[in-house]
Amino acid sequence: MLRMLILILLPVACLLPPGTGAGEIICGHEAKPHSRPYMAYLEIRRGNKNIACGGFLVSKNFVLTAAHCNGASITVLLGAHNINKQEQSQQWIRVRRAIPHWKYNDETLNNDIMLLQLERAVALNGNISLIPLPTSGQQVRPGTVCSVAGWGRRSSSNNDTSPTLLEVDLKVQDSEACGNFHCQMPPCYDPLTMICAGDRHQCQNSLQGDSGGPLVCGGQVQGIVSFGSTSGSPPSVYTRVYTFIPWIHEMMKRSQSGDPL
Ligand SMILES: *[C@@H]1O[C@H](CO)[C@@H](O)[C@H](O)[C@H]1NC(C)=O
Ligand SMILES: *[C@@H]1O[C@H](CO)[C@@H](O)[C@H](O)[C@H]1NC(C)=O
Repeated sequence: MLRMLILILLPVACLLPPGTGAGEIICGHEAKPHSRPYMAYLEIRRGNKNIACGGFLVSKNFVLTAAHCNGASITVLLGAHNINKQEQSQQWIRVRRAIPHWKYNDETLNNDIMLLQLERAVALNGNISLIPLPTSGQQVRPGTVCSVAGWGRRSSSNNDTSPTLLEVDLKVQDSEACGNFHCQMPPCYDPLTMICAGDRHQCQNSLQGDSGGPLVCGGQVQGIVSFGSTSGSPPSVYTRVYTFIPWIHEMMKRSQSGDPL
């Protein structure tokens, strides 16, 4: 029986049972500093705790992430490589408004996508830039190699997170590979709104990449880290960004013009 884990970072609580035995899943490596200038680190206030997520810059005013990363307040760090250091390139920006998808379901985790309107426009430079949204959904056929990055946990056997940005390559899978995530025991996999990625015969997975981080295929962001199995074994499930392009554009337009959402 698979127990599901939302790939969010909880500094205190951890849903992983001890001794899950998947061992180290440090199957990625440290990213070249600032080679992913669209990466955002999110600090989220929830109750009396802070949690962390990933995200990515899609316009000067908006970061995209997962809806399950929502909280009472969110601050975004851009231009970072080592989040524990004060790097010249870093910019902290408060989120003015979090816009989770109105059909986000916190049980099935369907429509796990959220736009964050920043308090001010970001100054773009060599260390902070945008990632293009997908122009087509075709690039995520099974077998395609994509990559994911994050400051999340490095192993399913301990709670340490990485201060530096890590990245890993993952292969897109067919829907059957995510057949274990079924609705008798949510969350559940829906191929219309989700992408299944990570080869179960290999160790590379996105446990190390936080929730909300981007699955990048051919230079475009095709997925958002959403959920996986508690054992930390691949595959994991990503929100299918292409499905949500009309929603993204509509919400950016409405919130820029001050219209109700
Ligand atoms: C980018 O970051 C590096 C390392 O922190 C720094 O040396 C460089 O000047 C930065 N570039 C810009 C445009 O901020
Ligand atoms: C991870 O954190 C949880 C909650 O604090 C704790 O119960 C568990 O023992 C920790 N696991 C490891 C391997 O440190």
